[in-house]
Amino acid sequence: MPDLSSRDPNWWRQAVIYQVYPRSFADADGDGLGDLKGITQRLNHLAALGVDALWLSPFYPSELADGGYDVADYRDVDPRLGTLDDFDAMVEEAHRLGLKVMVDIVPNHTSDQHVWFQEALRAGPGSAARDRYVFRDGRGANGELPPTDWQSVFGGSAWRRLPDGQWYLHLFTPEQPDLNWDNEEVRADFRTTLRFWSDRGVDGFRVDVAHALAKDLSEPLRDLGAPELSAEAALPHFAPGTHPFYDRDEVHEIYRDWRKILDAYIPPRMAVAEAWVPGARRARYARPDELGQAFNFEYLQAGWDAGELKQVISDSLATARAAGASATWVLSNHDVVRHASRLMLPPGTDPDAWLLSDGTAPAVDESAGLRRARAATLLMLALPGSSYVYQGEELGLPEVADLPAEVLQDPIWEQTGHTSKGRDGCRVPLPWTTSGPSYGFGAGAAWLPQPASFASYAVEAQDGVEGSTLELYRRALRLRRKLLEGEELTWVADTPPGVLAFARGDGWRCVANLSDTAIALPPGEVLLGSRPIEDGRIGPDTTVWLA
Ligand code: NOJ
Repeated sequence: MPDLSSRDPNWWRQAVIYQVYPRSFADADGDGLGDLKGITQRLNHLAALGVDALWLSPFYPSELADGGYDVADYRDVDPRLGTLDDFDAMVEEAHRLGLKVMVDIVPNHTSDQHVWFQEALRAGPGSAARDRYVFRDGRGANGELPPTDWQSVFGGSAWRRLPDGQWYLHLFTPEQPDLNWDNEEVRADFRTTLRFWSDRGVDGFRVDVAHALAKDLSEPLRDLGAPELSAEAALPHFAPGTHPFYDRDEVHEIYRDWRKILDAYIPPRMAVAEAWVPGARRARYARPDELGQAFNFEYLQAGWDAGELKQVISDSLATARAAGASATWVLSNHDVVRHASRLMLPPGTDPDAWLLSDGTAPAVDESAGLRRARAATLLMLALPGSSYVYQGEELGLPEVADLPAEVLQDPIWEQTGHTSKGRDGCRVPLPWTTSGPSYGFGAGAAWLPQPASFASYAVEAQDGVEGSTLELYRRALRLRRKLLEGEELTWVADTPPGVLAFARGDGWRCVANLSDTAIALPPGEVLLGSRPIEDGRIGPDTTVWLA
């Protein structure tokens, strides 16, 4: 049921959006896997937290070759997670609580279990069914070499050969064949999917790998020419818009077409691009006649360094403004090391390499990590634009870095030949209670084991507890609603080294001390601090909001 009480077309511009990873949020039926009924039962948590919307990672039928980003049917619910009726009930309850709902749309690839791919396998070379994907003959005397040097994002060649001799493209796992967006049937089907969920009351879409849909499939296919580089790292080696399969200019036609569909609803459905493309090029996805927003991964990738963050923040605001979009900020999501651990890594550490299986991970001090994470969060929530919050960060959860090899599910583990553990460490199911078989996640053990330390991070352990991370988020989000005005910030000049300070509308100021020495508290009423203020000084790794 659409929420008719909130028709503001710009609700998302400065919204706080909470990412739910459905299989790890709450398990109502006790099978160890989170589900839609579990989400519905826990929506009160999000309402009490004070977020504006939730975004659900994929809950569609899937063989889980890539955590649900291998979609077998775009217009249904994985039976292990529920039914379409459960989905409708969840949306209705969310809207009743004043929460908007966004879903993930995965248009670059389907699952190999999708009816289209199964049909393509049967139909053989040259068929219309194969034209929905990217099938090619191989190179070499007998076609035994892949058609190009393109590499999978998860490691190894992006091509897999079939028994009939042809190869198909998969920029992610072999179970995720890439679609051919030059094919009109593919385009039409996604229009149907956008309408299907919009008609069910969904308020917005997160667009997976938004930058990869358009590919240069003219013959002969071009090599990247630098197989040692990832597709993303190769971007600067091409003139803008001419990389064979990333960030091509033609991709924007697709989103201009989608925008017409999304704008036919009241309020218009919002959309945010996941586009791993640098600054100004990324902002193109966020233009008002396209998706409206794009995730800002430069912010996520910045170190805990005042100078670097100031630059990234200024650039991000400028590029978003130039595109007519609002800025976005993300510290954690289901693909990266949780920020309570990541921000503690020594400068220059590759967070993925930190999760190597060889046991060389440097120990991260959890309480220092939490202190830094809380400061980073208050800084983020003070910035103009939307913040995307990942489930569990409101509890201060650290990365679970020591998952044993036998429980790992992320395809990265296999595809890198067991050199990178992958992303399971940020996907461990949430702790709701301080005891129980899976700390209140469900009636049985969770699909990924939770460490014993999760008990102390549980919602139950923090609810109503002065100074807990959960209460910090609640207070910050309550204050933020009252204080937000305009989408501008003014930097305070002449701050001490390692300190960021800026003002928002109404004289509201944010001061973040990223240095390792305490600084004097500037004049003003303290609204909130990521740590208590003692002796009129802001301690290291501490952010304060002042009126
Ligand atoms: C980005 C998603 O966030 C990630 O989890 C997934 O593996 C890839 N896209 C492929 O769909």
